[in-house]
Amino acid sequence: MRLSSLIQEMMNTPSPIRQIMKMASRQNIINMGLDPDDVISYGGGWVGHHPPEGLREAYMKIIGDRESFHDAGKYSPTLGFEECREAIARMEKELFGVKLGIENIIVGQASTQLTHDLFIALMDDGDSILLLDPTYANYPGQIDMTVRNAKIIRQRVLDVDKWEYKDEGEMAEDFKEIYEREKPKIVMFPTPDNPSSQVFGDEFVKAVYDECEDNDTFLILDYAYKTQCFIPEPKYFSWSPTDHPNLIAVHSNSKWGRGLGRRLGWVDASSDVIDAMERVQQCSILCPDTMHQFAFTEYVNAALNDGSLKRYLEETRDAYKKAAEMTTKAIEEHLGMPYLVPQGGLYTLMRVDEDADEFVRRVLKNTGVLFIPGKGFGDSLKEAVRISYGPHVENPAIIEEGFKRVAKYLS
Ligand SMILES: Cc1ncc(COP(=O)(O)O)c(C=O)c1O
Repeated sequence: MRLSSLIQEMMNTPSPIRQIMKMASRQNIINMGLDPDDVISYGGGWVGHHPPEGLREAYMKIIGDRESFHDAGKYSPTLGFEECREAIARMEKELFGVKLGIENIIVGQASTQLTHDLFIALMDDGDSILLLDPTYANYPGQIDMTVRNAKIIRQRVLDVDKWEYKDEGEMAEDFKEIYEREKPKIVMFPTPDNPSSQVFGDEFVKAVYDECEDNDTFLILDYAYKTQCFIPEPKYFSWSPTDHPNLIAVHSNSKWGRGLGRRLGWVDASSDVIDAMERVQQCSILCPDTMHQFAFTEYVNAALNDGSLKRYLEETRDAYKKAAEMTTKAIEEHLGMPYLVPQGGLYTLMRVDEDADEFVRRVLKNTGVLFIPGKGFGDSLKEAVRISYGPHVENPAIIEEGFKRVAKYLS
């Protein structure tokens, strides 16, 4: 069978995280002589809290009425329904102070699809893009899939010896040097970050943005974890396309509202970028999901009116902050290995001082505890693992148990 040369190439470099999740599949765990029900996983890059009740009720309203359900089966406009884009604009304004018109918003299937479409809309063959090291493991594959001969440049942001992020001034200096040399078309990173759970500071982000604007290139901020920020929010969380036309913000319902399987996301950006995205999206998905837009619009408007959205987000954020603290406390007490203090999101990074692929295999086989080896996020994490507390947020007692087991084995 003759598949495309692109996909043949890509199948030779499968996603490193998928590889490890395969290793932790039920059958493989049994093959290792372990009981799958006994495995404690810190591998999941997902959230475990419940979606808002008001959102569930909005879905029930649609499903409970024959005509509403019929209506929810129609195509959406490619950009998304105006009512949905208005609700997003209102939410961004009331939660973060971002000023958006509906001409600044396109609704899509999720941030993964929107990111893929953004690369098509913005990059030519051979263009370069700057990613951080470490960064979200899916970006390199998404770039290779959409841009022929793309050059991926990495900026090291983690000081591996000290096991802490470089200070903002140093990061800004490093950035300027790399940017001047490489002139990337796009700079992209998540904040709060996956895998480090660090929130990039205003000085660094402003330095990056200013270069992008001066050179008419783009800064893409991936806001998958924007509502799960544990520290005071940086000022750039409120930037708008009117005052920052070279900024593109990618958003998702996956993490804040536990919508990982009810996929809906959006991009806010200048109207030029949104027009370009409309053309790409006509070819990629035609239009976003109607039912999810209807339920989301109904819920967001009602929950902004009665204040319940803010309450829900605060409670959720506090629960993740608590899970993060329990995780780092357990690492400190039981393993004593260097870790990063999460500033938002679902993860911490722990340095293990040996090849992490080997470490993960060995620990899983001997304890039934699963970590994610760091290499897939960048070379800086070859000897580190990503630990996710996201799936355990409603059952945080389990968090300590895994570290106790690993400590017993390692000692
Ligand atoms: C930084 C980051 N961006 C994007 C995604 C994917 O988001 P979505 O579910 O909207 O495709 C993830 C998922 O883990 C993520 O961590």
